[in-house]
Amino acid sequence: MQAAVAKTPAKAPPAARKVTFRILRGTLVGDQLTQKNQDFEVPYDDSTTVLGALEWVKGELDGSLTFRRSCRASICGSCGMYINGRSRLACKTKVKDLIYGNEAKNIAAGGEVVVISPQLNQPVLKDLVVDIHPFYEKVEVLKPYVQDGPEKEAHVTKDSFSQVNMVSNCIMCGNCYSDCTAMVENPSFLGPAALAKAYRFVADPREGDKTDRLKALSEDNGVWDCTRCGMCIDACPKGVAPMEAIVKLRALAIEAGNTHVKGAKKSMGLKGEIATWGVVNEPLMMLNALGPIGVLGQLGNALNLMKKGKVPSPLPFEHRPEGLAEVKAIYKELEENPLDVRTRAEDSGPGAG
Ligand code: SF4
Ligand code: SF4
Ligand code: FES
Repeated sequence: MQAAVAKTPAKAPPAARKVTFRILRGTLVGDQLTQKNQDFEVPYDDSTTVLGALEWVKGELDGSLTFRRSCRASICGSCGMYINGRSRLACKTKVKDLIYGNEAKNIAAGGEVVVISPQLNQPVLKDLVVDIHPFYEKVEVLKPYVQDGPEKEAHVTKDSFSQVNMVSNCIMCGNCYSDCTAMVENPSFLGPAALAKAYRFVADPREGDKTDRLKALSEDNGVWDCTRCGMCIDACPKGVAPMEAIVKLRALAIEAGNTHVKGAKKSMGLKGEIATWGVVNEPLMMLNALGPIGVLGQLGNALNLMKKGKVPSPLPFEHRPEGLAEVKAIYKELEENPLDVRTRAEDSGPGAG
C-alpha cells in the first residue's frame, strides 16, 4: 500500500492591493504639446516597481502609454521620470515605498495615488518621454574623452583612481539634470551630469589638457552657475554626487588661476571676509564680485530690499560674531595644512562640499 503523501496546505492568495497611477500624458503636434493627467488602477505587491506597474498598464489597459526602459536593473539609465515630486528611476523605485515611505531610501509616504510625469528641464516628446538631445549635447561639448597633451602624467595613483571612479558610475539617466534648480533659471547651464563628467577628465592624471578644461569650465554656464542646492546629490541613483564634483572643479579652477570670473571673485571675497570679520558682508561681497558698475545695476533690487527693511549694514564690524578667534584658528590651520580636493574623502549628503 502506498504511503499517503502529506499535502502542503494551499497558501491563501495575498489580498489584491491596488494603487492609482496618475500619469501626465502628452502629445506633441507640431510645436504644440497638449498634456493631461490620466488615472489607472494598478495591482501591486511588495516587489512591484513603478516600471513593472507601467508595463502592466501598457500591456493590460492602454498600449499607447509611452515611456523609455531597457535593462530594468538601474544600469541603462533610460527609465528616469518624475515620480511623486522627485526624479527617480522607475525600475529602482518600489510602489510600496512610494505609498508607505522608506526612510532608508529617502522616500516620503505619498499615499494611495502615485503621481508620475516626464523629467523636468527637457522638452517632452510624448507621455513620459523627453528629448534627451540637450542633455547629451552638453556632455559632448566638454569633450568626454582623455586628450593627449603636455599635462599628461604617466603615473595613476590609487587616490586619483577613486576620484575618477566615483563620477564614472554615471549612467546618464538625467535625473540630476531634471531636478537641478539652476537649470530652471538658466537652461544654458551645463548641468550636474556634464560637470561631473568634466571632473572625471580633470581628475584623470592621463588627461593632457587640464588647464584649458578648467578655463572653459570657469566661463558662463559652467561651475559657477550651480546654486549648490544639493538636489543632484539626492536625485542620483548611482551615488555620483555631482555637486561634490562641481565644488572640486571650482577649487581646482581657482588654483589654476581662473580668478577673473564673477563666481571666483565672489567665492574668494567671501573667504576673505569670513577670515577677517567672521561674517559675510553682502554689500562688500557684491562690490568685490560685480565692481562699482555692476553694483549700480543692482540698485533696483536694493531698493526693493530696503522697502522690506532688509538692508544689511555695510559696516562689517557692527556684526562681529562671538568666537572670531576660533574662526581665525580654523583658517590658520587650513593655511598650514591645506586640503587637497583631489584626495579629500567624499561627502555625500545635501550641502556636501
Ligand atoms: S547643486 Fe548645483 S548642479 Fe546640483 S542640482 Fe543644485 S544647482 Fe544643479
Ligand atoms: S550623475 Fe547620477 S543622476 Fe546624473 S545622469 Fe549621472 S547617474 Fe543620473
Ligand atoms: S530600465 Fe534601465 S535604468 Fe531603469
